[in-house]
Amino acid sequence: MPVRVLVIGSGAREHALLLAMAQDPSVTALGCAPGNAGTEALSERLGLASPADAEAVTALATGWRADLVVIGPEVPLVAGVADAVRAAGVACFGPSAAAARIEGSKAFAKDVMAAAGVRTAHAETVDNPAHLDAALDRFTPPYVVKDDGLAAGKGVVVSTDLDAARAHAMTLLDGGHPVLLESFLDGPEVSLFCLVDSASQTVRPLLPAQDFKRVGDDDAGPNTGGMGAYAPLPWAGPDGGSSLVDEIVADVVEPVVAELAARGTPFGGLLYAGLALTADGPAVVEFNCRFGDPETQVVLALLRSPLARLLHACATGLLVGEPPLDWAPGAAVTVVVAADGYPGTPRLGDVITGAEAEGVLHAGTRRRDDGALLSAGGRVLSVVGTGPDLAAARDDAYRRLEGVHLTGSHHRSDIALRATQGLVTHPTP
Ligand code: GLY
Repeated sequence: MPVRVLVIGSGAREHALLLAMAQDPSVTALGCAPGNAGTEALSERLGLASPADAEAVTALATGWRADLVVIGPEVPLVAGVADAVRAAGVACFGPSAAAARIEGSKAFAKDVMAAAGVRTAHAETVDNPAHLDAALDRFTPPYVVKDDGLAAGKGVVVSTDLDAARAHAMTLLDGGHPVLLESFLDGPEVSLFCLVDSASQTVRPLLPAQDFKRVGDDDAGPNTGGMGAYAPLPWAGPDGGSSLVDEIVADVVEPVVAELAARGTPFGGLLYAGLALTADGPAVVEFNCRFGDPETQVVLALLRSPLARLLHACATGLLVGEPPLDWAPGAAVTVVVAADGYPGTPRLGDVITGAEAEGVLHAGTRRRDDGALLSAGGRVLSVVGTGPDLAAARDDAYRRLEGVHLTGSHHRSDIALRATQGLVTHPTP
C-alpha cells in the first residue's frame, strides 16, 4: 500500500514524524506544510499561510494527491481541519473537532473524565472575576490556575503564592478566557501517547515518556511548551514502565475513548494522556488530542515499526490488524534549544550553526536567501540522543548539543538527570 503523506505543522514534532516516516518503505512521497528549514531536507515543502485554514489544507491535500494527511498541532484539529480533509475523501490522522475538545476545553475534558470514572484533580471553572476570590478560598496551596482553552502549554501557573495565582487568573479572565482552578496533583508526571482507531476503538499505547515543562533547571521559572523529554521510564518498573502503561490504558485511556464514542464523538488519532503518579495511583493532569512536543522526538527515536503504515491504518479503521509495535532497546533523551526571551517574546533572526547534524530536529528555523540558518521561533531546535540506557542517551544528547550554536539561546542542563540518579520514584499506592 504505497502512500503519499502530507504532514501539517512546523515544529520539531513534525520533523520527528517525517524522519520516522522517511524510514517506512510504504512511503512514496513526503510533503510538509508549512514546515521549517529542517523538514525541507526530508520532504517537499508546501506553502500554507495558516494550518488552521481548513479550506487551504484540503486544497493542498487534494492538489498534492495525498493518500494520508497527518495533522501535528492542536489548533487545526480543534478548528475542524481533520473533518474537512476527510470530507474531501482523503484519509486523515487526527480527531474530529468534536473529539478534539478533549484538549480544546479543559472543562469538557473534566466532564468526560467524570462520566468515565477516571481519576483527575478536583477542579472548578470560573468565568466571572467577581467569583474568583471565593473560588480560590476553596483551594489550598500550591494553587493550579489554567486557561480553559488552548495556550501552547503556557496557560498554566502552579504557585504557592495566592497573589500570583490570583494575578494569573485575572489576566486570563480580563482576556475573556474562562479559568480552571485545580487541586495540585503530587507525583512524577508521565506522558502516554496512544494511537486510537475510532472505527473499532482500538488503543495502541506508545512508550511512556516524561517531559520538562518549566523553563529552568530544577523546574524553576514559568511553564513552556516543553524543554526536554526522555523515554522510556526506567524508574517505573520493568521494561521502562510497561505494567504502568497497561494500567493507564485500562483505567484512563479506554474509559475515555469509550465515553467519547458513547457521546457520538469517537476519538481517532493520537490521544495523549498527561498524568501525575500520585500515592493514590495515576491521575490525569490533562489530555491532548495530538502528538506531544518534545516527547514525540524521543518516542519516535525508538520506534522500529513503520510509522506511516500505522498512522494510515489508524486513519482507515485497520489498526486492529496491525502487529504489535516494535521498539529499539535502550533510551532516548531530547533537549530543547530555545531562543533568548522564550517563553516570553523570543528574539528572532539569529544565525544558527551546527544544526544540520544527525539528531538535531528543527522547530523555529528558516533559511536566509544566502543559505544561512536563522532562528524563527521560541523553541528553535530539539537535540535527540539515544543510548543503551538513559545515562548514555543523556550523554549523547548533551554531546550533540555542544555542536550547536545560537547566540543568546538557552536550554535546560538537567533533562533526565534525576532519573539517572535514581531520584525519581514511582509512588506505590
Ligand atoms: N509536551 C507537552 C505538550 O506537548 O503539550
